[in-house]
Amino acid sequence: MSIAVAIDGPAGAGKSTIARAAASQLGFIYVDTGALYRSIGLNALRKGIDITDADAVVSTLDDLKVELAFDAEGSQIVLLNGEDVSAFIRTPEVSMSASKVSAIPEVRAFLLDLQRNMAKTQSVIMDGRDIGTVVLPDAEVKIFLTASPEIRAKRRFDELIEKGQDVKYEDVLADVIERDYNDSHREIAPLKPAEDSHLADTSGLTLQESIDLIINIIKENTK
Ligand code: DC
Repeated sequence: MSIAVAIDGPAGAGKSTIARAAASQLGFIYVDTGALYRSIGLNALRKGIDITDADAVVSTLDDLKVELAFDAEGSQIVLLNGEDVSAFIRTPEVSMSASKVSAIPEVRAFLLDLQRNMAKTQSVIMDGRDIGTVVLPDAEVKIFLTASPEIRAKRRFDELIEKGQDVKYEDVLADVIERDYNDSHREIAPLKPAEDSHLADTSGLTLQESIDLIINIIKENTK
């Protein structure tokens, strides 16, 4: 039987790093659903579309094919009309675009089956904002992973600096706060803990402690 673990939470809570590590230790497939919204945000930016114009964004979906695949190391890659765009979707500009396009109901509907199908035949840890509430409401384990905005901004800032991007901490913090607001105030599938989710606050925890906490929650609830 395949097992589904849903991990939701705000930007920069460490979801992807923690979920990837937990999946690899437990032998599950890790699915990063944010990459899907990012690829649609990237596509809209590339086409020069005004991302606040929902109709214009929706029109880009007509001839768009988004797919998730895995490379030789088992890492997820996202394909936009067959092109691997994984290297282009992590910039602050694409983050903001993804947050905006993800509030459009047609965009969410466009990606729903793709996400659900990933969990049909294999055990997955899927991370996002609405996995436990909308995408996989019957997931065996639901976790809401969070940390304070300042800690999340500091983590994201360190990550971007390491990638050689020229960013200021204050700007990253402002982005985190704006994206939190967008993600939790949108009408459709807003970011909120599923009623039956386990709350995991990683503010005072090291990365290893956070991974251990998540693995323990999963093991305890799939016995
Ligand atoms: O997890 P992330 O930062 O890569 O996600 C990018 C954006 O996509 C984020 O602002 C919210 C949106 N998103 C969403 O609405 N639903 C998901 N399941 C995953 C991401």
